[in-house]
Amino acid sequence: MRHPTRLGGDTLVHRLQQMLADRGLDQTPAGPIDDEPRPDEPGHPAYHRARRAEWALARWQTATPYRYQQATATHPQITAWADRAIDDPKKAGFLLMTGPFGTGKTHQAYGALRRIADAGPDRYEVIATTAPDMYALLRPGGSDRGAEYELKRLMQVPLLLIDDLGTEKISEFTEEATYRLLNERYNECRPLIITSNLPPSDPTGGPDLNEKLGQRITSRLSQMTTVVPMGGNDRRRPASGGAA
Ligand SMILES: Nc1ncnc2c1ncn2[C@@H]1O[C@H](COP(=O)(O)OP(=O)(O)O)[C@@H](O)[C@H]1O
Ligand SMILES: [Mg+2]
Repeated sequence: MRHPTRLGGDTLVHRLQQMLADRGLDQTPAGPIDDEPRPDEPGHPAYHRARRAEWALARWQTATPYRYQQATATHPQITAWADRAIDDPKKAGFLLMTGPFGTGKTHQAYGALRRIADAGPDRYEVIATTAPDMYALLRPGGSDRGAEYELKRLMQVPLLLIDDLGTEKISEFTEEATYRLLNERYNECRPLIITSNLPPSDPTGGPDLNEKLGQRITSRLSQMTTVVPMGGNDRRRPASGGAA
C-alpha cells in the first residue's frame, strides 16, 4: 500500500538518481538516441561532399579564363563524358571536341571541368592551357623550372585541358612532346580534354589531326577517345552575319 512517488515526489526520484550517480552508475535512459548527423552537419557524407565541391569549384575558377567563368556543359555527349569522369576518372578516356571556331568547344570544355568540380570529387587538380601556350612552356628556356618538369606536371595532373590543338606549327620537338604527353596519360588512363578545329581524320583529304600530329599520336587518340563534332553557327558573330 505504499506509493513511493506520492511520498517523496520529484525530490525522492532526484535523491535516488543522485545516489546512483554518486556510485558512478549510468543514468542515461535506455532507448534509441538520434545522434546521426544531418546532411548539413559534419560526419554526414553530403556535408563532406559539399565542402569538397566548394574547394574544387574555387580551383576551377582559378583555372578558368574570365570569358568562361559562366560556362556550363549542356551538350549531351559532353555531360555524359563528365559524368563518367566523376564516376571513375580511369574509365572516362579522352574527350575530343572538333569543329569550326565559335561553335562552343571551349565553353563546353570548361563546363565539363566545372561539372566534375561540382560533384565534389576526392581529388580535384586541373591544368587548362591552349596548345600554343603549352608548347611555349615546353620549349627550351620556356620555363624557369625546366621543360621536363613542366611536361611531368602535364602528364600527372588529374585533369588536363588542351584547347585548340592543331593550330600551332608542328615541329619534331612539338611532335615528340605531344606524343610523350598523350602516351603517358593514355597509359595511366588519366582523363584529357582536347578541342581542335581539325577532325581526327578527313577521308576527303582535307586538313586533319592525323596529318598535323602524325600517325602515332592519332592512333593513341583513336583508342580511348570520345570524339564530339560540334556544329552550328559561329556564336561570336551576330546571327544576321553582320560585322564580327
Ligand atoms: N552554351 C553557351 N551559352 C552561352 N554562351 C556560349 C555558349 N557556348 C559558347 N558561348 C560563347 O560563344 C563564344 C564562342 O564559344 P567558344 O566556346 O569560345 O567557341 P570555340 O571554342 O568553338 O571557338 C564565346 O564567347 C562563348 O562564351
Ligand atoms: Mg575555343
